[in-house]
Amino acid sequence: ASLELGPYRHFMQKEIHEQPRALADTIEGVIDRNGFVPALFGDADGAVLRDVEAVQILACGTSYYAGLVARYWIEAIAGIPCAVDIASEYRYRAAVANPKQLVVTISQSGETLDTMEALKYAKALGHERTLSICNVPESAIPRASRLVYYTRAGAEIGVASTKAFTTQLVALFTLTATLAKLRGRLSDEQEAQYLEALRHLPGSVQHALNLEPQIVAWAERFAAKEHALFLGRGVHYPIALEGALKLKEISYIHAEAYPAGELKHGPLALVDSAMPVVVIAPNDSLLEKVKSNIQEVRARGGEMFVFTDLDSHFGESEQVNVIRTPRHVGILSPVVHAIPVQLLAYHAALARGTDVDKPRNLAKSVTVE
Ligand code: G6P
Repeated sequence: ASLELGPYRHFMQKEIHEQPRALADTIEGVIDRNGFVPALFGDADGAVLRDVEAVQILACGTSYYAGLVARYWIEAIAGIPCAVDIASEYRYRAAVANPKQLVVTISQSGETLDTMEALKYAKALGHERTLSICNVPESAIPRASRLVYYTRAGAEIGVASTKAFTTQLVALFTLTATLAKLRGRLSDEQEAQYLEALRHLPGSVQHALNLEPQIVAWAERFAAKEHALFLGRGVHYPIALEGALKLKEISYIHAEAYPAGELKHGPLALVDSAMPVVVIAPNDSLLEKVKSNIQEVRARGGEMFVFTDLDSHFGESEQVNVIRTPRHVGILSPVVHAIPVQLLAYHAALARGTDVDKPRNLAKSVTVE
């Protein structure tokens, strides 16, 4: 294993750093074709993706959070209503069949039993339009789906998913743009802009990775804590969820995530100087709202750790620590902001001395119910 690890201490760290490459490989097909076409998903004539009127996403764990990000994109860009369900819940609820609905499963391994069973259930309900986003060629879930988009993250060994997540996001963004184009909602100009955004993404992710030394310093302070709260809004709320999940999985620090606007409806009661609050707050239409949520935390003596980007002004103070990603990347911002929360969890776990690649009680691929 030490040979495979190269300069890294753990597979998780290696896989975090592989993300620029993994993303570039995953979008290669889109860049080569210079456009968003159904053939990217194996839908040569567009028969499955054309006329889609609803999207149902099914997944577990980190893959589910990728689905939550995708919902914002699919509704805003493609104009299609989108539901996202945890696979183990969907399979036991009486969902309503809709022949125009596209069922999208997201799974790194392609073998997660709950996701597979949710797909079978959707098919039994009569859903024929099925698409798998998967990292392992020829695994069970893509084999049971009509269409597939393979993320090209390469083998992911660390139990806590990292490069699979960000490559799932670009696959889902590609799906969104393809659906939008089929519906006549994507101008040539907009398509060119999205392609340009994808081309720049590996570089922007590399810039975020370069923040590692600053994040190490924060992580050392986190290591002494027992609880943490993660906040985000809109498309960055799922990144807050993912940050909290990563932290609890590998450092065993109790963490929860809330949409920042919900703070006042409960979690604010927990905030004191012993509870660090991580805020994902890049410059988007909700930034001013997030800033006022931050004031609520500040007034209660909470210490904040804010991940933001270049052109959003945050006053740093004793209570408000700020790390900035050096570029504002617009629509793909959740991909870039996944990086600092991964690094924070990794270095907090390292400081606590846990088994980062094999956290207690967890498995890489869960093939039991
Ligand atoms: C397990 C892993 C997670 C993963 C989840 C879903 O819980 O520990 O990292 O997100 O399964 O796995 P999948 O392979 O379906 O994406």
